[in-house]
Amino acid sequence: VDSMSVKPSGAGKVSQLNAVILGEALASEAHDLVFPSRDFSSQALVSSPEKYEEMYKRSVEDPAGFWSDIASDFYWKEKWSQPVCSENLDVRNGNIKIEWFKGGRTNICYNCLDRNIESGNGGKVAIYWEGNEPGFDASLTYAQLLDKVCQLANYLKDMGVRKGDAVVIYLPMLMELPIAMLACARIGAVHSVVFAGFSSESLAQRIVDCKPKVVITSNAVKRGPKVISLKDIVDAALVESAKNGISVDACLTYENQSAMKRETTKWQEGRDIWWQDVVPKYPTTCDVEWVDAEDPLFLLYTSGSTGKPKGVLHTTGGYMIYTATTFKYAFDYKPSDVYWCTADCGWITGHSYVTFGPMLNGATVIVFEGAPNYPDSGRCWDIVDKYKVTIFYTAPTLVRSLMRDGDEYVTRYSRKSLRVLGSVGEPINPSAWRWFFNVVGDSRCPISDTWWQTETGGFMITPLPGAWPQKPGSATFPFFGVQPVIVDEKGIEIEGECNGYLCVKSSWPGAFRTLYGDHDRYETTYFKAFPGYYFSGDGCSRDKDGYYWLTGRVDDVINVSGHRIGTAEVESALVSHPKCAEAAVVGVEHEVKGQGIYAFVTLVEGVPYSEELRKSLIMTVRSQIGAFAAPDRIHWAPGLPKTRSGKIMRRILRKIASRQLNELGDTSTLADPNVVDELIKLADS
Ligand code: PRX
Repeated sequence: VDSMSVKPSGAGKVSQLNAVILGEALASEAHDLVFPSRDFSSQALVSSPEKYEEMYKRSVEDPAGFWSDIASDFYWKEKWSQPVCSENLDVRNGNIKIEWFKGGRTNICYNCLDRNIESGNGGKVAIYWEGNEPGFDASLTYAQLLDKVCQLANYLKDMGVRKGDAVVIYLPMLMELPIAMLACARIGAVHSVVFAGFSSESLAQRIVDCKPKVVITSNAVKRGPKVISLKDIVDAALVESAKNGISVDACLTYENQSAMKRETTKWQEGRDIWWQDVVPKYPTTCDVEWVDAEDPLFLLYTSGSTGKPKGVLHTTGGYMIYTATTFKYAFDYKPSDVYWCTADCGWITGHSYVTFGPMLNGATVIVFEGAPNYPDSGRCWDIVDKYKVTIFYTAPTLVRSLMRDGDEYVTRYSRKSLRVLGSVGEPINPSAWRWFFNVVGDSRCPISDTWWQTETGGFMITPLPGAWPQKPGSATFPFFGVQPVIVDEKGIEIEGECNGYLCVKSSWPGAFRTLYGDHDRYETTYFKAFPGYYFSGDGCSRDKDGYYWLTGRVDDVINVSGHRIGTAEVESALVSHPKCAEAAVVGVEHEVKGQGIYAFVTLVEGVPYSEELRKSLIMTVRSQIGAFAAPDRIHWAPGLPKTRSGKIMRRILRKIASRQLNELGDTSTLADPNVVDELIKLADS
């Protein structure tokens, strides 16, 4: 097959695939298979199922050998001690502990920059920056990037930031965002990037939790036609943090001139400093702080099903090796590639696959400040043609929204440079997969549908383009060293074709090591549900051919446009509104976002429903969490369906929200079954 083509299963190669992976005959007729072209496979890093099988087998039978061979390609000031990995993933055997390359001393910034420069790539473009407005752009070579990183690192040191200190970064997608991450890593400081779409309250919550010495921000950002004053948000967050006893010494502010001039920016003398006034004055060299492989690299907060966001902590050595390796194989990376990941560095995807993974490979990366549909829906393909992007990695929500806008926005651009496409954040529905494949990739580019999480640091289940025929909507097979298991409710592992809860057996180098300041919560959330395994919180099925199909979260986490939002967080924002007595939030299918937020709200006695109140409730969530968490729908609820012991029955609420009214199931156990009829009556009001 010379070009990739969508074929029904049953073709000859499939039996070979089954023979290799499952050791059993082909059975599935249910799913289409998309084969990589012979051309693509012949030049791919992993060019056949056999090659994958051989590497995978070694990675799980001899993880120490497999990973230390790879780690040897990186720079270690001192080599790690034996064993390469020491772990306990079973709560029944004591505290959970994961360590990789312990005793090894290294630095991820050195490996991203100095190492690549020393090998002769100092003149290669590290970052092409594309601004919100077409025509605004800039670039930095690896050598120039190192200079900038060193200047900032020196500034931070001068401000008293030392190894192990936290720095909060609240920046839009300017080059200064990866620069700030790398500068922290260079001096052993622990960065915590907060997505610049979070509200001041969310930012304050994170500042209070990790107590940074310095906050790095920018005065404003333009997203599409809208200017957002980030500095105002930071100011409010710092007032809020001070109320909680956390005062921050310095707020380093980058003047983002195309969005807002410094004259119009509110300023607090003594605390606020313009980046451009101080950082360029520092030397362009800065000694590296050599850190232990298990020293913390960063904290990234993510939503859970209960309580406040969790500070996911990643350490240095294992994360470095894992992000570099996953990037290389899942995108079949070649040094000539130009790579664009549309994620913001405020999320894990931007950490592992805008900054660290690509730069560890010496890749040329696009950093895009703007919105993908500004000035129109062709912007992505305009950028692809402008920089001759070869690898394009995005989220299904963007694919669906561009698909809705029409093919003509895509086909008016060449896109000839594209070679590999990628998807992340939520299951990609087969129709979006096909559109991405056929229209964007001209039926030529394999799609790496990468399943992973903030907690996993890097890809866990992902196609290796060139190795496998793909099935639209399946993340295919585990990455090297990853042993997924599907368990039933009792935690019993199910073999073969099945459906259940997705867990992982034994650790991988990129695994997170703890939740900052709360190792108990770490153990309870991830390791106690199914003892002996890491529990992902996702449902999953495995088909007859051994392909994995992610089916979405099984806990109270909603995945909106690939962003994790805890129902509990939205509920607590809603009930903080003086007129809201109670709230229950569920996820509901959404055409573009994947899932939307659907909130049932009970008002304080005597308060009438009104459009104004609906808006004010939504505003409360926007200001407490961020605009991306705003409910799509408020459903007035005179009462909520509860069991006699007072537990809200979300199962019923989910059915009402999705209007599956014939499938409400048994409501007789409710304290007051009439509540359900009332809710149905108010469904469309
Ligand atoms: O439910 C899964 C979904 O996103 C969750 C992880 O979210 P977060 O930590 O914010 O990281 C997002 C980027 C890695 C997972 O538990 N998810 C992520 N990628 C996929 C996915 N679901 C299905 N297919 C994917 N490719």
